[in-house]
Amino acid sequence: MAERRATPDALPAAAAIRHGDRGVPVQPATILAPMSGITDTVFRQFLRGLGGCGLIMTEFTSSEGLIRSERVARRYLSFAESERPIAAQLFGSDPAVMAEAAALVQQMGFDAVDLNLGCPAKKVVKCNGGSGLLRDLPLLGRMFAAIRAAVRIPFTVKFRAGWDDQHLVHAELARMAEAEGVNALSLHARTRAQGYSGQAQWQWIAEVKQAVRIPVFGNGDVRRPEDAAAMVAATGCDGVMIGRAAAANPWIFRQIEEYRQTGRYTLPSDADRAELILRYFRLLLAESLPGTLGKMKQFAAWFTHGVERGGDLRQAIYHSRSEAQALEQVEAFFAAPLAS
Ligand SMILES: Cc1cc2nc3c(=O)[nH]c(=O)nc-3n(C[C@H](O)[C@H](O)[C@H](O)COP(=O)(O)O)c2cc1C
Repeated sequence: MAERRATPDALPAAAAIRHGDRGVPVQPATILAPMSGITDTVFRQFLRGLGGCGLIMTEFTSSEGLIRSERVARRYLSFAESERPIAAQLFGSDPAVMAEAAALVQQMGFDAVDLNLGCPAKKVVKCNGGSGLLRDLPLLGRMFAAIRAAVRIPFTVKFRAGWDDQHLVHAELARMAEAEGVNALSLHARTRAQGYSGQAQWQWIAEVKQAVRIPVFGNGDVRRPEDAAAMVAATGCDGVMIGRAAAANPWIFRQIEEYRQTGRYTLPSDADRAELILRYFRLLLAESLPGTLGKMKQFAAWFTHGVERGGDLRQAIYHSRSEAQALEQVEAFFAAPLAS
């Protein structure tokens, strides 16, 4: 692999995920990571409005739930046309159920279907879903084949490197996925045992990239545009996937693209921040889905880090008893500095 320097031009302008004559452009070469409880349709539309993200993914959705209940489909897999290109992420442990769910995803009009092999949550792993499958490669092989046979849209896999440091399977899994017709991979470069602790081990992304020819997206600990360039330079990956930093700084995708093009990027002002949080809250209110106040509090918790006196705003929103009150708190908080 040719060494690339961690300069803005290390960042690829675009990637593409192809299956036969179907292709999903990933332009710019960045993906919003699936985040349960966060990347719902409101957040995704909001993020699309900011620009700069190549591909968007839904929160993970239970394949069992999806084939049994229309409510699950409506709740987790509704999307707006403006979100395209968009992939739906599924989890589960039964190849036949997964295949049926993947076919539904295709029928619903998604551009791609993604299989979750990373979730460390006990309730998912207990039923052998998420990262639980990393312990059973033969079952995983059957799962890949069943999903591949069920859909014509691109099929991608998001995974962790293994159950723990003693059981790393990333390169073997990647080769198997490619052989079974998977069209792209995203590696969260941690083991299940690591949870979200410690550092992501980017060398595992490099090892996956060397093992296969399909596109590989690197994931884990990209917090700033410089990190995205460093990850690509260190691993040769085809693009980066970003999770937590997108919740704290939804401009990150736009910043990465600006950084790639100009070597610099714009930091948001207080006025930008105020406008952004108000825009998101108003979008949430317009959708008036159940749990809106909870979503406002959650977003505030992520988004107010890095804001001066963000702790005060977080508290004010946290103690709000209605959605209108939460909105008022944001307006009041930003009114003072904005007016000065
Ligand atoms: C609140 C939260 C929810 C998540 N939900 C999912 C999920 O539904 N599916 C999935 O594959 N990964 C999920 N993840 C993992 C992220 O997609 C990502 O792999 C991880 O956060 C590492 O990337 P980052 O360092 O850019 O955040 C979740 C992470 C967080 C913090």
